[in-house]
Amino acid sequence: MQAFPNPEDTLVKSTKISIDSQLLAVWIPALTAAIYPWILDAFHWSVTPTVSSNESIRINSSSTFLAALLLIAAFAVPLINIMIASRPQLSKPTAQSVRARRFALLAVTAPTVYVFFGVLSYMAGSKVPDTWIWTPVWLLFGYLASRSTDAVISEQPRTSAHLRVAHGISGSIAALYVVFHIFNHLFGLISPEAHAAVMDIGRTVYRAKIIEPILVAVMLFQIFSGLRLVWTWSETLADRYRVFQIASGVFMSVFILGHMNSVFFYARTWLDIPTDWAFAAGLPTGLIHDPWNIRLLPHYALGVFFVLAHLISGLRVVMLAHGVNSSRANRFWWAGLSFSVFISAAIMCGMTGLRLV
Ligand code: HEM
Repeated sequence: MQAFPNPEDTLVKSTKISIDSQLLAVWIPALTAAIYPWILDAFHWSVTPTVSSNESIRINSSSTFLAALLLIAAFAVPLINIMIASRPQLSKPTAQSVRARRFALLAVTAPTVYVFFGVLSYMAGSKVPDTWIWTPVWLLFGYLASRSTDAVISEQPRTSAHLRVAHGISGSIAALYVVFHIFNHLFGLISPEAHAAVMDIGRTVYRAKIIEPILVAVMLFQIFSGLRLVWTWSETLADRYRVFQIASGVFMSVFILGHMNSVFFYARTWLDIPTDWAFAAGLPTGLIHDPWNIRLLPHYALGVFFVLAHLISGLRVVMLAHGVNSSRANRFWWAGLSFSVFISAAIMCGMTGLRLV
């Protein structure tokens, strides 16, 4: 009988557990991202009214419950992947653990990449359903990401202080537009006309000949400087708050790129239509009942949530740097996140037809 475990067996076991958990950390993101569009398809099916024999259209309460569960499942995809990206890192990160974290961060962006991909494939005139390409590609990515080696990364990289400061300054400029833009979308809760009236006032500033190119340049700078910072941060030992900040930044990078493509190229150039309320809310069918538009719902909701949460995460770092104690800074962060959820939900209610007056 063996009283104590053999240290060699323990080592073999713990290495195996760590390899298994690294593989899970790749395959969960791959699978959740791969099934994401199918969740939206199932949601669409569950909210499509059935026409009974006497021609009356009805949605029963069990399908309303199912629709709610499916919507929660769609939002759970980025959430699960943030949790995977923020798993405690090994004290000596390996190529495999870093690649797994980066892959989980990529999977966080699934809801917005799916919109970007859908717009590009539509513009390219593709006849192949998006899901037929989407699902195999994510599984292939998962396979490639799982093949990394276990080599220990010897040097801990450092983020460039200049780049961090530049990203922060340019982010504060971008925030001026973003805060107005989000405030503008809240007017959808009053009426499309109120939304248009506020947008008309804003356009005199952000669509001015010198301002608009500056705004686009600032957004592009945010994307590329942010991704550069993410690349370095994803190799370091970062706490959960920091990983959330990184994940929201990665999401926003894809969101802004895809959103600017939709506004500037797809709508204003390719379709030559105004980028107004009808364009944003997917009228006449709306966001909920159209099989394509439903993908805009998590995309917009998470876009608003993550941009606010990203700003709040940045403010938390500034607070800590100015000596605010961490429990106070963390309370501010939690309150900020709750506020972001509230604003995002309010905008989405307006975009799906709720009117307060
Ligand atoms: C509910 C969410 C959102 C909706 C429905 C939405 C919709 C729109 C619409 C309709 C426009 C065209 C504006 C115009 O024609 O004047 C626009 C422009 C733009 N949006 Fe959003 N947006 C959302 C969230 C965001 C977020 C979170 C960002 C964050 C960066 C963002 C960045 C931009 C930018 C940079 C432009 C281009 C501005 C310009 O026309 O020069 N949007 N968006």
